[in-house]
Amino acid sequence: MAKQELKKEIWVPWMNRVLHLASLAEGQTSPNPLVGAVILDSRQNLVGEGFHFAAGDHHAEIEALSQAGKAAKGGTLLVNLEPCCHHGKTPPCTDAILESGLSRVVVAVKDPDPRVSGKGISCLERSGVEVVTGVLEKEAAFLNRAFFYRIRTGRPWGILKWAMSFDGRIALPNGSSKWISSPKSRKQVHALRAKCDAVIVGGQTVRTDNPLLTSRGLSKIEPLRVVLSSSLDLPEDARLWDIKEADTAICFGPESSKKLLEKLPKGPEKILLEESSPKRLLETLAEKGCNKVLWECGSSLATSAIKQNCVQEIFVYLSPKLLGGFNAMTPLADLGFTSMDQVLTFNDVSLFKVEKDLVLNVLVTRDV
Ligand SMILES: NC(=O)c1ccc[n+]([C@@H]2O[C@H](COP(=O)([O-])OP(=O)(O)OC[C@H]3O[C@@H](n4cnc5c(N)ncnc54)[C@H](OP(=O)(O)O)[C@@H]3O)[C@@H](O)[C@H]2O)c1
Ligand SMILES: [Zn+2]
Repeated sequence: MAKQELKKEIWVPWMNRVLHLASLAEGQTSPNPLVGAVILDSRQNLVGEGFHFAAGDHHAEIEALSQAGKAAKGGTLLVNLEPCCHHGKTPPCTDAILESGLSRVVVAVKDPDPRVSGKGISCLERSGVEVVTGVLEKEAAFLNRAFFYRIRTGRPWGILKWAMSFDGRIALPNGSSKWISSPKSRKQVHALRAKCDAVIVGGQTVRTDNPLLTSRGLSKIEPLRVVLSSSLDLPEDARLWDIKEADTAICFGPESSKKLLEKLPKGPEKILLEESSPKRLLETLAEKGCNKVLWECGSSLATSAIKQNCVQEIFVYLSPKLLGGFNAMTPLADLGFTSMDQVLTFNDVSLFKVEKDLVLNVLVTRDV
């Protein structure tokens, strides 16, 4: 193994710990990334660790430094993302690192945020701190794929989820779909919501299912519940209009009826989009600080979202039930393909079982 590679290899076990710490706050830190940190003293003993809990709270490096105190001097900081060097809601971490007397910083991946992007690393190096980069780089980029994707594209990472019978239906011919998947699978979906910043449905799902769309308390900050509707023909009463448990936003385009706009329920926020489209909706949600959203809609909105490149990952809950019906809804409408060479094909596929359901997870976007 080349000397440089060996130098990185020795930090892998600790960096795994850092990634684990960072992941503990999944769904809570947006618009910020997930960051964990570990501090080893000059004899390589663990003297401090921490993670970034939520936007506005201490950065992970500061948590770990406050635990380590004087023991940080001459020691090593391991962190999954390049330390910040700018004044945000909190002062730059590079200042605190230099004050602590740490002699080495091991970073998994550079921060793509243009305010940092290499500047944190060069600031440390200029001040005489040894910086090792690229330790578990791919894993670290994957953990923060949603943050990276938003910084790169201006849109949050989109996860599309649907529950489907063995014969490929997501609802009965009369629209009823409660419940296709098992109770345990539905609990898992609550956990998935807890990791997202917003959950999106269309007007028809509100009219047919009257969903609640919360994490059932699994998340300290419930995801924003978003209804995209162009008709604004929404029910007077719906569970989503009660914003005691979680916030709701009703989003619509300029073509929506002004009359129906006046009739919308008081609680939810109303957001006028440039047009009623998945792309515009996601740009707006990114501006509101969302890194990751969950599409829990039916087939027409899911199809628009895929066509507009608003889906980067898919979860399919496949349940051992037969619903039947030529007119029963399938997960997607026409994607416009006319040859098998054009169809969407995935390489990154995982399969697991929850009770009797099979769960498929595919990555649509590999470039994270
Ligand atoms: N099994 C499952 O996983 C699952 C999940 C969700 C839903 N469902 C079922 O799916 C059915 C509803 O399906 P749906 O396809 O009508 O879903 P939807 O989630 O209601 O999405 C379609 C609605 O989105 C709104 N919309 C606004 N802009 C849009 C755009 N650019 N493209 C597409 N839609 C846009 C429209 O609302 P307006 O009509 O208000 O303008 C449209 O009717 C229900 O029977 C429900 O039970 C099943
Ligand atoms: Zn920082």
